[in-house]
Amino acid sequence: MYTVSVRTQAPYEVTVGRNLIDELPSLLTKYRGRALVLVSDDIVAPLHMERVKSVLEKAAFTVHTFVFQAGEDHKTIETLDALLNFLYEKEMTRADLLVSLGGGLTGDLTGLAAALYCRGTDFIQLPTSLLAMVDASVGGKTAVNLQGAKNQIGVFHQPSAVLCDTAFLDTLPQNRFAEGMAEVIKYGFIDDKTLLDRLLPITDLESVIADCVKIKARIVAEDEREYGIRKLLNFGHTFGHAVECVSNHRVSHGDAVAIGMCRAYDVARRAGICQEDFGEKLHALLDYYALPTETSLPYGELLQAMRHDKKRSRQSISLVLPTKLGECICHSLPIEELEKFFAPSEKKEN
Ligand code: GLY
Repeated sequence: MYTVSVRTQAPYEVTVGRNLIDELPSLLTKYRGRALVLVSDDIVAPLHMERVKSVLEKAAFTVHTFVFQAGEDHKTIETLDALLNFLYEKEMTRADLLVSLGGGLTGDLTGLAAALYCRGTDFIQLPTSLLAMVDASVGGKTAVNLQGAKNQIGVFHQPSAVLCDTAFLDTLPQNRFAEGMAEVIKYGFIDDKTLLDRLLPITDLESVIADCVKIKARIVAEDEREYGIRKLLNFGHTFGHAVECVSNHRVSHGDAVAIGMCRAYDVARRAGICQEDFGEKLHALLDYYALPTETSLPYGELLQAMRHDKKRSRQSISLVLPTKLGECICHSLPIEELEKFFAPSEKKEN
């Protein structure tokens, strides 16, 4: 078992290990006697909700369950509204607790409801996907989409604790596991090239997850609100979010990040700031996990979606570009140069 401290303004711990759910009540001792709303989607709930609920009820918590329809189409203000109304109808107070049981989407939605309800209630993250364990559950980003634009409405609200029980991954489909691997691979390329050598194949998943969380915890503690270094965590995300948006979320977040990392590498290679070994390693890892490296979506629509990216300011957009294995830089690109920079390379057009 691994414990990683996240030293944000309100610090908390991330615990990584197998079969941790039985330990949940001990994490929640300070909430004893309070009510709790367990939030999950209709794919994860049938798999895990009863077990988590019964562990909590045995520890004398009053547990209400809120289940919403799975899928990015439901990461909306309407679902948020339904959850907030549910909290109100159950007479939840700001001293009570929300618990997210699910992937990144569930965590983002639950965290945003927790931030808004009674001007801020505590919440706990129980991530059930690899992607949520290594990335979405840590760092306090909460959000829903707006008109399909990814995470356009949200706030920073840190969880009170995160429990990554790797037993949840036993029910994760292979393609969803691979999606999480896109984020794992990202950490290696932005911060720790030695991590990349432990992924073909992974022999100790818990230590890999814990090391990704350590990288994220360090970066988030330094720059909780993403004014500087935290932007590095968005490697592959500017183009990736555009792919998600233009595909109407038929391309998943992890797949889109994989495509986005390749396009960012391509931009850096053509600008002469990144060596070929970066690209070779990136493609080898993405191929191994059967992750996509390109998209045939219309380039004009992708450009338009990037122009709406929330990481842009009025005149420029912040891009993360690789320089060498384990190192990326943030580059502020004038909006009018976006088209030139992201155009598919000639090699791909042939
Ligand atoms: N997923 C990137 C971040 O949390 O900053």
